[in-house]
Amino acid sequence: MMKKILFVTSEAHPLIKTGGLADVSGSLPKALAELGVDVRLIMPNYRAIKTTEEIYYKSTVRVNNTDVNILETRLPGTQVIVWLVDYPEFFDFPGNPYVDEQGNAWANTAERFALFCRIAVEVAMNRSYLEWTPDIIHCNDWQSGLVPALLSLEASRPATVFTIHNMAYQGIFPKTTEASLNLPKSLWNPDGIEFNDMLSFIKGGLAYADRITTVSPTYAQEIQTADFGYGLEGLLSHRKEVLTGIINGIDANQWDPETDAYISERYNISTLNKKQLNKTALQNKHSLPVDNNIPVIALVSRLVEQKGIDLVLECLPEMLTLPLQFFLLGNGNKSFEQQLSLFAETYPDKIAITIGYDEALAHLLEAGADIFLMPSRFEPCGLNQLYSQRYATVPIVRKTGGLADTVVDTLPETLSKNTATGFVFNEATSGALMETIKRALIVYSQPKTWKQLQTTGMKKDYSWTKSAKEYMALYEQL
Ligand code: ADP
Ligand code: GLC
Repeated sequence: MMKKILFVTSEAHPLIKTGGLADVSGSLPKALAELGVDVRLIMPNYRAIKTTEEIYYKSTVRVNNTDVNILETRLPGTQVIVWLVDYPEFFDFPGNPYVDEQGNAWANTAERFALFCRIAVEVAMNRSYLEWTPDIIHCNDWQSGLVPALLSLEASRPATVFTIHNMAYQGIFPKTTEASLNLPKSLWNPDGIEFNDMLSFIKGGLAYADRITTVSPTYAQEIQTADFGYGLEGLLSHRKEVLTGIINGIDANQWDPETDAYISERYNISTLNKKQLNKTALQNKHSLPVDNNIPVIALVSRLVEQKGIDLVLECLPEMLTLPLQFFLLGNGNKSFEQQLSLFAETYPDKIAITIGYDEALAHLLEAGADIFLMPSRFEPCGLNQLYSQRYATVPIVRKTGGLADTVVDTLPETLSKNTATGFVFNEATSGALMETIKRALIVYSQPKTWKQLQTTGMKKDYSWTKSAKEYMALYEQL
């Protein structure tokens, strides 16, 4: 019998997305369902959820003296059932899952996700009138961290998997929050959800889940060290027997240059010359000089320290002396947003900066750019370097996490073995980034070699097929 999986997540594309967790939560369950797995999602019913699918009432569950409704819908365009935890007092507000419209973290973040976790536990235990008993609860990131902890107290419970998408976000709150959440006292200890006398949601996953995964093999190693573990490296290396890295796949239908509805001209490996029409569209859209020969560098990202935006800012003055155009789409840190916008005002024919979140532009940038920048300080997996390879846009990445696992540097031997797909640098310094940009520009001026990088990248299979099977194998062991 195929195992039944409850997938617990705080965001899922296309319902709601702030980053890669949504891409994974939207595409992995779909891939599992295609392999015949009965997988269902549970997430909060935020006001910002967008869907054309019907949403209907299923049941009401009482937890911690609170009545909460469960609504049901489908992951758009699929048969995958999604249960929405409907508690308007917490979730019916504008803004995203983590911050309000002004970008401030919700004051009741802990209460919100604790309630969400309690409902997920009721569904897991089939106490929520949904008449479905999962075998495995697959939790993702700290927002679902209390689920393995609470389930550990149940006499007969499903198995738990906790996937780390990012160790930098841990859901840490003052001790007083723990008391107000009315959590079982037995969980409050240094081997449990207590962390330096604070409440840690992520520890609920890391300490209690039967299996831990993260989103690349390299990141699975990195988080066992002090530089990447944020104080939890000891716990993670203690649990290394149950910790594995499974590289993310991509939604190969949504990110396909041959069918992409967001781009100006579609192309594939044998019509690669049409890619340049997307470059023209991009240059026109942002009023930059239309020039097919000038290399276009793009970056699409949350503007946070993780992504090495400061390194890009340090490189910009020198980059602007070179014959290139730079397009950036992102939002986040206000100081990064302001500094980038200032560059764009000063050099309007070389840089176009779009501050905001724009799904369509993200696709056009993948299609229209020649080079994609990901100088991340750390990157659990990263998805844009995978999209870039599929769109024949050569990535420049720092050698960390999933970037190290998925981009092959251009060197004499990788060129002769036909494995090179991009440019990789080690040091998290602007000097190393600048050198690598120059290295890429030299190869860009050699059309035959450039085309080799593009086609090698395009031929790689980054669909979920392989990784979804790795998750299935893991579920089978439990
Ligand atoms: P992370 O999850 O750390 O943000 P990933 O590389 O895993 O990084 O995934 C980021 C996802 O979010 C990609 O699909 C990327 O295209 C998308 N994205 C990030 N910022 C924006 C933005 N401003 N507009 C549109 N899409 C964005
Ligand atoms: C996180 C990571 C990113 C990863 C994504 C999906 O947000 O920062 O590297 O690709 O989750 O797993």
